[in-house]
Amino acid sequence: MRSPFYVTTPIYYVNAKPHLGHTYTTISADVARRFQRMLNKETFFLTGTDEHGDKIVKAAQKHHVTPAAYADQISRLFKDLWPELTIEYDAFIRTTDPAHIRIVTHVLQKIYEAGDIYHSEYEGLYCFDCERFYTERELSDGKCPDHGTTPELIRESNYFFKMSRYQDWLIGYIRENPDMIRPERYRNEVLGFLREPLEDLCISRPKSRLQWGITLPFDVNYVTYVWFDALINYISALGYPEGNNFQKFWPEVRHIVAKDILKPHGIYWPIMLKAAGIDIYKHLFVHGYWNIDESKMSKSLGNVIDPVALKASYGVDALRYFLMREMAFGLDSNFSETALIQRINSDLANDLGNLFSRVLAMVHKYFAGIVPECSTLETQLHGRDLQNDARQTAETFATAMEGFEFHKALIAIWDFISIMNKYVDATAPWDLAKKEDSRHRLKEVLYNLLEGLRIVAGLLYPVMPGTASTMTRDLGVDMDHFFFMDKIVQWGLLRPGTRVAKPAALFPRIDTQQENPSTAAPNKDINNRAAMKPEITLEDISKMDLQIATVMAAAKIPKAEKLLKLEVQTGQDKRTIVAGIAKSYSPEEIIGKQVVIVANLKPAKLMGVRSEGMLLAAVSDGITSVVTPEKSVPPGTTVR
Ligand code: MSP
Repeated sequence: MRSPFYVTTPIYYVNAKPHLGHTYTTISADVARRFQRMLNKETFFLTGTDEHGDKIVKAAQKHHVTPAAYADQISRLFKDLWPELTIEYDAFIRTTDPAHIRIVTHVLQKIYEAGDIYHSEYEGLYCFDCERFYTERELSDGKCPDHGTTPELIRESNYFFKMSRYQDWLIGYIRENPDMIRPERYRNEVLGFLREPLEDLCISRPKSRLQWGITLPFDVNYVTYVWFDALINYISALGYPEGNNFQKFWPEVRHIVAKDILKPHGIYWPIMLKAAGIDIYKHLFVHGYWNIDESKMSKSLGNVIDPVALKASYGVDALRYFLMREMAFGLDSNFSETALIQRINSDLANDLGNLFSRVLAMVHKYFAGIVPECSTLETQLHGRDLQNDARQTAETFATAMEGFEFHKALIAIWDFISIMNKYVDATAPWDLAKKEDSRHRLKEVLYNLLEGLRIVAGLLYPVMPGTASTMTRDLGVDMDHFFFMDKIVQWGLLRPGTRVAKPAALFPRIDTQQENPSTAAPNKDINNRAAMKPEITLEDISKMDLQIATVMAAAKIPKAEKLLKLEVQTGQDKRTIVAGIAKSYSPEEIIGKQVVIVANLKPAKLMGVRSEGMLLAAVSDGITSVVTPEKSVPPGTTVR
């Protein structure tokens, strides 16, 4: 029997369209699921929409439709978007599904009968946007910490869930299960919340105020608080309590959420499960926020990024790669299209795409497009050739994927790609091809490269399923039997004699205006260049110490509108450089960039600041563009 694996995303509110934040979480779940399927596990991937509550009522009112009609409309957007991004969910739950409603009612009744729900009068500060009461302590400057609005004092009689009773139990449980909540910083955060006394949770809303919800089974005058309803989706989708899927998958669940909903998942949910007599979930994986200009991307701030537009411009695999590679799972990340383009051009088009087409081109040139025979003797002679690196890469990759550290898994693949690129240069197949007695070696080198690429294709599958399929197809591999870890790591699977495809670009480079001078009007200085400067020799150039430096800090210089004062890190020291780039760069924009500096320029004072070098930049029509290395390199690297 295959072992089970169950992964969930949060169910998203239907008060606005899906954006890049939802996309990141859902792609993460898809990547985790695809990887586990490669381990031959039986997988189940659940996502869906959270449709009850005041937020939805308000959004529907704004659009002059009923909450049910509005929920239908937005839920469909989520449901239809995911396949567009090659996300393959097994079930899409809606909290308005009758089966879900039945199970929420069942769980409420169970907890009520066990004596953990009581009725009480309550006066408190209520944030209508969060749909919850706040204690004074939780507010920041008297305002809701999420919405910045002043909560209203309301008095109501409601039903409460005795969470406080379970506080000590939960602390103990989290301590005994150190990898329940990951990464560790979020486990610590939950334990931090639990240092303060836990209040009982108000789990009802009077129908006089809200009708759009699940009626409490023990009092028809109330609907269920939306979080109590929503969390239960993770078990109702499996057919709790009797369903086969529940028995099979629940013990192997992994929830993925962002840090905004850590508290309901880290505190309410385990206590609800405990009170209902259900096993506690196995893992909660918590990731950070995608920010735009350092503030959270959110519907309320109106700075959301549309994944559909990104897919249309850059393609789905490039988008999936970027999201998984750029964000270190658990930490926040800043989204920018420039960073996306950089990753496409450097990691995908350059490192991977060029290697792939170069290798295929050589197989065509030297072996008429047929995978060459590689004798075992040759492999033994050059035993370390790529094989060990491939095996180690697969191991690092698998460990990272298992722990949802997707960025680390991709870094491992790209380290291997870089090894292969160096291998091409070091073995120089074009030289081997010149002599008959190195023909064996040439066969072996190309065979190794093809095998390396086959393994890369396999490991890329969870993040870039389309690219993985194209690569394996081009390498002449039978795809149906391919995407399993034990097959992927088996060196020597590629059969000599197989025909490989003609090289084609896997990822076309994205030409930005700066990068594509062919589309920009020629700089008028260009044609006069010969007239402007006398010819120089290599000796003249060698006098200049050109180095890569990283900009660590930057500030404006008072009364000098064109100048920025930069602190740069070189190979040996930190130094100050005054650069005339302030009209084209803000200090924030230049920080973190790598630049090329003339390191041995005699220091000079500019506007009272000592400048210890200069940086190289191109100037056209008053726009300054600093020269940066195309790939990140260590500071101090010589530029030749
Ligand atoms: N409906 C609740 C969840 C109930 S789960 C039982 C909810 N919905 S939500 O629509 O607001 O989605 C929140 C989730 O969307 C986050 O936890 C995260 O998965 C994703 N993201 C929304 N904005 C995000 C960012 N800016 N960055 C990263 N993920 C974000 O909360």
